[in-house]
Amino acid sequence: MGFPEEEKILTAREAADLLKVTVQTIKNYIYQGKIKAFKTPGGHHRILESELLSQLETLMREIQQDKVAGEGFDVLQQVDVKTKGAQFVAVRALLQVLDKRQHFPWNHSKRVADYVTSMSEKIGLSSDETKKIELAALLHDIGKIEISEDILNKPESLSDEEFNIIRRHPEIGENIVKEIESLQEAGPLIRSHHERFDGKGYPAGLAGDSIPLGGRIIAVAEIFDGLTSNTPFHSPLSQQEAIDILKRYSGKQLDPTLVQTFIGTISKTA
Ligand SMILES: [Fe+2]
Repeated sequence: MGFPEEEKILTAREAADLLKVTVQTIKNYIYQGKIKAFKTPGGHHRILESELLSQLETLMREIQQDKVAGEGFDVLQQVDVKTKGAQFVAVRALLQVLDKRQHFPWNHSKRVADYVTSMSEKIGLSSDETKKIELAALLHDIGKIEISEDILNKPESLSDEEFNIIRRHPEIGENIVKEIESLQEAGPLIRSHHERFDGKGYPAGLAGDSIPLGGRIIAVAEIFDGLTSNTPFHSPLSQQEAIDILKRYSGKQLDPTLVQTFIGTISKTA
């Protein structure tokens, strides 16, 4: 009779064991007011078992919801990883189709992407940033699909009008990727890959650090690959001849620090 001496008082650990959750979950629920508790003079939580049991149904629902939310988050992360992988597979497949249908130079895109990856890693960029630049490198000339091949491959010198048409490809490229959510982040890099370090490039005439880093990296890689490849305009230069030209472009067309970085990565793999 009298006081409910049978009333059992639980520690946070005992409550956690009872509900099969972590002690942290119990503490979170206490802070959120979902579990009533009081504190000992030493600052430890104590929970009346009867209180806990009376709330059991609500709490179990809560725990289940948190579990689902946690699992949902895991799944989202996995999907995100898969999507990023799939995004590269899709872009590569697209470029290979374009290579066959429109003679869009897939090998050039692939080599430029490999060069920029080595450079990005060498200067210590995060893997996310490196992936973004690699993606932009794969797609850097995608805007050329809207430009006539007669102009693109014309071996004779171009008229001003034809040259102005070619100069539109970075902006056209940016507009194309703008339409695809998972590719949007490559847009500013695609747009800036023909800007020059001395500000004499296009489309915006940006100079130095105001050119996005990825755009400056792609510029070095794309020029080197252009020089060492067979094109309608010239036969391939040797690696050393191309490096000498990059050095001449350093500080003018190209970011001098990145030219050094590139030479460092090339020498290592050569
Ligand atoms: Fe280009």
